[in-house]
Amino acid sequence: MASMEGLIGLMNRIQRACTALGDHGGGGDLPTLWESLPTIAVVGGQSSGKSSVLESIVGTDFLPRGSGIVTRRPLVLQLHQTDDGSQEYAEFLHMPQTRFTDFARVRQEIADETDRLTGKTKQISPVPIHLSIYSPKVVNLTLIDLPGLTKVAVEGQPESIVQDIENMVRSYVDKPNCIILAISPANQDIATSDAIKLAKEVDPTGERTFGVLTKLDLMDKGTNALDVLEGRAYRLQNPWVGIVNRSQADINRKVDMISAREKEREYFESSPDYAHLASRMGSEYLAKLLSEHLESVIKARIPSITAVINKTVDELESELDTIGRAVATDPGAQLYTILDLCRAFDRVFKEHLDGGRSGGDR
Ligand code: GDP
Ligand code: NA
Ligand code: MG
Repeated sequence: MASMEGLIGLMNRIQRACTALGDHGGGGDLPTLWESLPTIAVVGGQSSGKSSVLESIVGTDFLPRGSGIVTRRPLVLQLHQTDDGSQEYAEFLHMPQTRFTDFARVRQEIADETDRLTGKTKQISPVPIHLSIYSPKVVNLTLIDLPGLTKVAVEGQPESIVQDIENMVRSYVDKPNCIILAISPANQDIATSDAIKLAKEVDPTGERTFGVLTKLDLMDKGTNALDVLEGRAYRLQNPWVGIVNRSQADINRKVDMISAREKEREYFESSPDYAHLASRMGSEYLAKLLSEHLESVIKARIPSITAVINKTVDELESELDTIGRAVATDPGAQLYTILDLCRAFDRVFKEHLDGGRSGGDR
C-alpha cells in the first residue's frame, strides 16, 4: 500500500524533473503539472526571520542569514526524508554531480550562486536556485525562501526594487497551490506586517496562510503577543505559531541547531505568558503542522492532480512519437524520465485512491 510519505517524496522528484525539463527548454503542459503540486513559501519583510524559520524547519544550518538583504534569489528547497541512520547530504540542480555533506559549504554555494547572477551587489534576481536535502531528520516538504519585502531602495539598488521584489514574491504566492508562511516579527505591530498584507491579498479566505510570529524574545519587557497568538488581533483560519530563532549574537557565536531548539522549547515552557501554549509553539511544531496540512491538501486534490497527470502522459506520448522513440538525444532522454515519473506518480495515486476507498490505507 502506498504511504503518504512515499507519495510526497515522489511528488518532490516529479517537480524536480519537471523543473529540469523546463530549464532545458522542454515544453508541452509540464508547467501545468509543476503548478498543480503544493509548495510552501516564506513571505515577509526584510530580516523578519524568514531564512531562520526555514532553517529551523529543516533542522540543519545551511542558509545565509543576517541583517540587511541577504536572500537575493528565490531558493527552491526540496526536503527528502531518508532512512534512519543514513548520512545527510545536499545537492544543487546546477551541480548535479556534487553531493554536499558539509552544510557550511552548502551555505557558501548558495551565496556564490547568488553572486554569479547578481554580482556582489544588493540587487536581486528572480531566477531560482534549486537545492535538495536528503536526511533522516526532515519531513518531506518543498519550501521556497524568498527575498524580503522592502519599502525603499537602498544605496546600490534600482528604484524599481521595491516593486520587483513584491512582483517576484507574488509570482510564487499567487498560485492557489502555494501554502504561505507569513512571517511577522513580534517586535513590530502586526498592523504593519508586510507578510499579512500580501497574504490577505492573494489568499483572502486565509485557508492557505500560516501566520508565524518570530522574535518573541525581542518584545518590549512588559508586553506579550498573546493577542496575536490566540487569534484576537488578526484572525487567520489556521492557528498562529510563535517562534524564537537564534539572534545575531547566537549566529556569531555559532550556536548550533540542537541547542537553539532546546533554548526555544525552554523559552516557551518557562514563560509565564506562553507556558499554556507551549505544546503549540516553536519550530518543530510548525514543521509538524505544515506536514499535516500538506498531506490533507494532497489528499483533497488527488482526483484533480490525477487528471492533470493523465493529460500530461498523453501529451508526452504524442510528443515522444513526434521526436521518434529511438532517438536518444538529450531532450528525448529527459522526456523519458518525466514520462516514467508521471506513470509512477499516476500509479501511486491510483493505489492510494483504492486504499482510500477500502479505508485501510493509514
Ligand atoms: P530574513 O531576512 O527574513 O531571511 O531574516 P533572517 O533569518 O536572515 O534573520 C535576520 C536577523 O534577525 C538575523 O540576525 C537573525 O539572527 C535575527 N532573528 C531572526 N529571528 C529571530 C528571533 O526569533 N529572535 C532573535 N533574537 N533574532 C532573530
Ligand atoms: Na535579512
Ligand atoms: Mg532571508
